[in-house]
Amino acid sequence: MTEPGNGDHRSQAWRERARDLEVPMRAWIDGRFVDAASGKTFETISPRDGSVLAEVAECDAEDVDRAVAAARRAFEDGRWSRTAPADRKKVLMRFAELVLENLEYLALIETLDVGKPISDSLAVDVPGAATYIQWYAEAIDKRYGEIAPTGPDSLALITREPMGVVGAVVPWNYPLILTAWKIGPALATGNSVVLKPAEQSPLSALVLAELAAEAGIPNGVLNVVPGFGPTAGAALGRHPGVDKITFTGSGEIGKAFLRYAGDSNMKHVSLECGGKSPQLIMADVPDIAEAASSVASGIFYNAGQTCHAGSRVIVDRRIKDELLDRISTLAQAMPPGDPLDPETKLGTLVDEDQMNRVLGYLDIGREEGATVVTGGNRTRQESGGFYVEPTVFEGVTREMRVANEEIFGPVLGVLEFSDEAEAVALANSTDYGLAAAVWTRDVGVAHRVAGAIRAGTVWVNCFDASDATVPFGGFKQSGTGRDKSLHALDQYEQLKTTWMNLKV
Ligand code: NAI
Ligand code: MG
Repeated sequence: MTEPGNGDHRSQAWRERARDLEVPMRAWIDGRFVDAASGKTFETISPRDGSVLAEVAECDAEDVDRAVAAARRAFEDGRWSRTAPADRKKVLMRFAELVLENLEYLALIETLDVGKPISDSLAVDVPGAATYIQWYAEAIDKRYGEIAPTGPDSLALITREPMGVVGAVVPWNYPLILTAWKIGPALATGNSVVLKPAEQSPLSALVLAELAAEAGIPNGVLNVVPGFGPTAGAALGRHPGVDKITFTGSGEIGKAFLRYAGDSNMKHVSLECGGKSPQLIMADVPDIAEAASSVASGIFYNAGQTCHAGSRVIVDRRIKDELLDRISTLAQAMPPGDPLDPETKLGTLVDEDQMNRVLGYLDIGREEGATVVTGGNRTRQESGGFYVEPTVFEGVTREMRVANEEIFGPVLGVLEFSDEAEAVALANSTDYGLAAAVWTRDVGVAHRVAGAIRAGTVWVNCFDASDATVPFGGFKQSGTGRDKSLHALDQYEQLKTTWMNLKV
């Protein structure tokens, strides 16, 4: 078997480093690595070849209790929660620097644990995580409270206070970035955090915890409890000592967190639960080649395991054939490859379950009457890893499951429209509302369609353009609340009114 880039020095060098890699394997509670109270461990697998990367502490309710208690102690004694914002800034800036100083180590861990291309981990995931931590660090000492316009006999202050103990439950598709989206604003605002990484990708969060401590985050302020959802995740969701849950993952589990909150202490919950993002390609698309390339990267980047992946293209019938040809050509030019090869653009699915879920949807789409234009199969089976070809379905209609359900793999569905109203109706026809794009030369159409689409982000003549300055989150069942931007800070703070009588 010839692996792409096999002779390449750089790829060989990554493989050698992977062989010698040492990774953290124990939970991080109250400023130190500890075993799970039960002594249990679980295997984290590398989807690149199915090998066991590490045996990681399997935390459950007892460990979550310990972590929440440590977080609560730290919060109550003020070692972090009552420090000056400028002091928190310094520590978090150092934390961001340390993330960058460990760029290659973190990138290698992320690539091995989730199978994303090493070039993406190096260019996107690790620098992205550092950027978000840094951005919130820089912001936190530049916000002011308010004085309410009361009458002259009173003084009413409106101030922000940290929530307390924040439980962060994150998925495996962007372990570092999504963790930074949550711990950046949560720590900047003075909260203590108990983080539960996904069971598929526990390693990079443990490295982050150690780096945070090295930067000066006090003991107990950031805790990491690797483990499974129904045990560790549910214990955090139900815990009476947790004031806030921030979650990214499936809608089903997002709803479970709302129930956990209702059944326990009415903790605040913010959710980001994925999407079925449409790209609307109007007949007057400014540059069809650019649109096609944006559609391809919008669905195939990270092997389609992206919450806002552009998994539906909704195209004017008149230009469908040309667009489809171009997308298919691009899809065929990016066969899945070894994530450790710096040339690889498309890596693996995160694990065997996710691969089987995606392959299941390929069967469903065929049974529903959609046509596979390109791809459609598992590949590189001999590697032991979990690779699926970039796949394009033509002839998708709005009733089909493949048009409505999140597949979370490199699978694009193509739907057609005859007029603008139909395009908008199709865009809005799922339970999701995370993101969308519209491609047109006509600013009137762009503005009208962007207004009519029920989604947290609408791109015009681009896809996935983004930085720390803009909020990210969903309408409808894509979730509640927002990550990123200054608005994310509100998710981790309470407003307090202090009304003073000046007439005494
Ligand atoms: P999931 O929602 O089950 O897992 C996400 C996180 O929730 C993980 O940390 C997991 O341990 C935790 N969790 C799972 N069950 C839990 C429970 N009963 N109580 C508390 N916490 C729990 O997602 P999963 O199973 O990994 O992927 C399934 C599908 O979810 C994917 O195919 C995709 O469609 C969607 N998904 C969406 C993501 C997004 O970015 N919005 C990310 C990951 C998955
Ligand atoms: Mg699950």
